[in-house]
Amino acid sequence: MVTLKNQAELDRMREAGRIVGVALRRVADAVEPGVALAELDAIAATCIREHGARSSFLDYHPRFTPTPYPATLCLSVNDVVVHGIPDVRTVKDGDVLSIDCGAEVGGYHGDAAVTVPVGQVDDAAHRLMATTREALSAAIGAAVPGARLGDVSHAVERTARPYGLLEGCGGHGIGTAMHEDPHVPNTGRPGRGMRLREGLVIAIEPMLIEGGGDAGRTLADGWSIATADGSRAAHFEHTVAVTADGPLILTTP
Ligand code: MF3
Ligand code: CO
Repeated sequence: MVTLKNQAELDRMREAGRIVGVALRRVADAVEPGVALAELDAIAATCIREHGARSSFLDYHPRFTPTPYPATLCLSVNDVVVHGIPDVRTVKDGDVLSIDCGAEVGGYHGDAAVTVPVGQVDDAAHRLMATTREALSAAIGAAVPGARLGDVSHAVERTARPYGLLEGCGGHGIGTAMHEDPHVPNTGRPGRGMRLREGLVIAIEPMLIEGGGDAGRTLADGWSIATADGSRAAHFEHTVAVTADGPLILTTP
């Protein structure tokens, strides 16, 4: 069921989103060769707690995973597309690191992600990240009242070329739950699908694969989804409200 949010609810979602934006920025600022994924996770945990919020991810247990999610952030390195679990592993010069953060405050969630370079990365990595970021902005631009969900999805698909997409994965409605209806596919046809109305809030999250589209493979931890071909991936995400004034990004500091 799709729920539309009123102004008071959007204000609360803005606060949750703001905290996510602050946490993501703090974590991104701490990324350097040699830092442990668990250290980055601790930065986010502290930041979220300091704001009186809680992690949307910690202990989250959807049907498709064997265990509840054990951390504050998803940290996905190189060929891991999404849902990488932070641990003692460190990142090294040349890695690409996707940082995904969700927080809940006052009963409402925010969800956002960025991919950042670790030290110096090659030009291909810069292009992959830039295109993924562009796909997110194009999709956000399509999230206006009266448009269709397919317009948003198609904006991702169109911008993502010539990269591949993680098949079957996409964004989602968000509000009192982190994952609400509707599912927001990363491919779609313009003019098709649900009509977007004021008060709809969706997390839009293109996941682009350097080597071409595939369905990914789940690693032994039961959570991490890596590219089937071992090529690198990038992931950007914002929580976005459809408003009369146009798309409003909620997950900024
Ligand atoms: N942005 C991610 C998603 O929407 C957040 C979920 S991570 C989880 O899939 F660990 F909580 F599942
Ligand atoms: Co999400």
